[in-house]
Amino acid sequence: MIELKSISKRFPDGTAALTDIDLVIPRGSVFGIIGRSGAGKSTLLRLINGLERPTSGEVLIDGTSIATLKPAGLRALRQRIGMIFQSFGLLANRSIAGNVALPLELAGMPRAHRDARVAQLLDHVGIAAKAQAYPASLSGGQRQRVGIARALATRPDILLCDEATSALDPETTRSVLALLADLNRDMGLTIILITHEMEVVRAICDHVAVLDHGRLVESGPVDTVFAASREQATLALLGEDR
Ligand SMILES: Nc1ncnc2c1ncn2[C@@H]1O[C@H](COP(=O)(O)OP(=O)(O)OP(=O)(O)O)[C@@H](O)[C@H]1O
Ligand SMILES: [Mg+2]
Repeated sequence: MIELKSISKRFPDGTAALTDIDLVIPRGSVFGIIGRSGAGKSTLLRLINGLERPTSGEVLIDGTSIATLKPAGLRALRQRIGMIFQSFGLLANRSIAGNVALPLELAGMPRAHRDARVAQLLDHVGIAAKAQAYPASLSGGQRQRVGIARALATRPDILLCDEATSALDPETTRSVLALLADLNRDMGLTIILITHEMEVVRAICDHVAVLDHGRLVESGPVDTVFAASREQATLALLGEDR
């Protein structure tokens, strides 16, 4: 459903962030992207939601090239793609409910519908009791649940996660991963997940791709790649963990 064809991305300062990437991300998968710092992982995610444009090559979503979309089409695409971050990105001066409501406000949903949808979302991620609280009073795991609720507000079918559990302790990480796994199973959400924690990949990903210096080193089912890789970049990431 998401296809990268011969993607290269060079920034104006000359940095070659991605070079000649070919990758297919199947619908309904939980797809891990791993690689060292600076390997191009975040850049790759930003190409998928159209925040960055490739220097060459195409990103196809359900067969449609993002580059051919007009502004209205790009807005519609962004509603189909939710994103969560390591730093949560919540607005400090808005309540939890207000944060989750934001994408619905931007989409022009009427107040009454919005309130009902926000209540449903907060309930879904297990944080309804905190609706009127402010982000500063929440734990990291709770904030990430709010981030997930906000990302799901417009009913996306793709969720991009950029180091979404890196700031969390192992137990909280497990609970957030369990939530993501439920969303994948129950709603068929396709999840693309960047992480530097191999444990996270083992816990919820079915496929993994390894980036190194902007190149795709290998990709495939997690079991196969982790058990049988002969690639130096992959082995270095796995370390003692193998
Ligand atoms: N806007 C930009 N302008 C110039 N160079 C950039 C820009 N954004 C990223 N880069 C460079 O592109 C390369 C890939 O960056 P990217 O953020 O995709 O890496 P990453 O794999 O996400 O790293 P990390 O694990 O540290 O988040 C890096 O060399 C980075 O410095
Ligand atoms: Mg990054």
